[in-house]
Amino acid sequence: MPGTGVRLDCTGYLAPEERLEQVSSSLKGVLAVHGRLVLAAGPPQPCPWAQNVWFEPTLLRVTSIADAAAQLRGLQRNWWPYAFQLYRRSELTREKLPFVAAKPLRFPEPAPSAPLGSFTWLDSDQLLCSARCSSPFPNGEPRFVEFGEDEGPPSRAYLKLFEALTLMGAMPAAGQRCLELGASPGGWTWVLGTLGSRVLAVDRAPLAPRVARMRGVEQRLGNAFAITPQSMGAIDWLLSDVICYPDKLYRYVCSWLDAGLCSNFVCTLKFQGREHYAAIERFAALPGGRVVHLFHNRHELTWLRRPD
Ligand SMILES: C[S@@+](CC[C@H](N)C(=O)[O-])C[C@H]1O[C@@H](n2cnc3c(N)ncnc32)[C@H](O)[C@@H]1O
Repeated sequence: MPGTGVRLDCTGYLAPEERLEQVSSSLKGVLAVHGRLVLAAGPPQPCPWAQNVWFEPTLLRVTSIADAAAQLRGLQRNWWPYAFQLYRRSELTREKLPFVAAKPLRFPEPAPSAPLGSFTWLDSDQLLCSARCSSPFPNGEPRFVEFGEDEGPPSRAYLKLFEALTLMGAMPAAGQRCLELGASPGGWTWVLGTLGSRVLAVDRAPLAPRVARMRGVEQRLGNAFAITPQSMGAIDWLLSDVICYPDKLYRYVCSWLDAGLCSNFVCTLKFQGREHYAAIERFAALPGGRVVHLFHNRHELTWLRRPD
């Protein structure tokens, strides 16, 4: 019966696979951990590692799977299970709820606009749910129609850029000028070339020949950080997937912000072990930007910035 839920004074943070430690250690007031879902006291806290944030979670006491589905439907239409146990029960609940297609996106198709709630079974008569989550994708996992390596992108890194641009809701337009650092073998360059932008792709290693031949792509071999705002002039997008210390990337990005010569950024922050996590806060504090963990990131975060 709808209306029996108890709103909890906490927020839920769903950690990516193998990143539970990063999520739980970055939160204050951890109350409980259910699989990869961490509940921490009070309103939302900054947590770049979280894959999906469950706002205002509610505890539902239920008498059956049908009752659970009815209570969820009473809150809103679209739901997706996060199952860390009671898998069959989760699946049966999903089957009783309105159908959610969750089809892989065909990039550059936009992210779904409909809100998607999340629920998880805690035991056979209690369900935790959130009608409002930070991600419109099931458990914060955007899936895309993929391309084989023989068809186009020479690495799977293109999926990171698909996801980053989809989350930003912005794309390099045809003819826009992009500087791409750490481009080899060319997964990101292939995306940018496909969008029709003009790309200077810099790496010490070469691009795959078929990417280097794409219209609008110019390849430069050498140290990416040797390219300065002054030597390059105004650009529309700066994209970096360079393997380097995050502090080095931070100083480089600041040189572009200070010069005022670029306003759209997609930059991967790469980590080895737990070192250099202090750089996360520095990136997060840059005006107009945000730090996220993409589903397609590994031990990395991505700093995104677009003009207001
Ligand atoms: C993760 S790979 C990039 C993959 C690429 N985004 C793609 O989609 O195929 C990182 C790249 O950074 C390059 N790299 C690392 N340090 C560099 C530097 N200082 N200057 C130029 N390239 C660098 C490496 O050669 C490597 O190709």
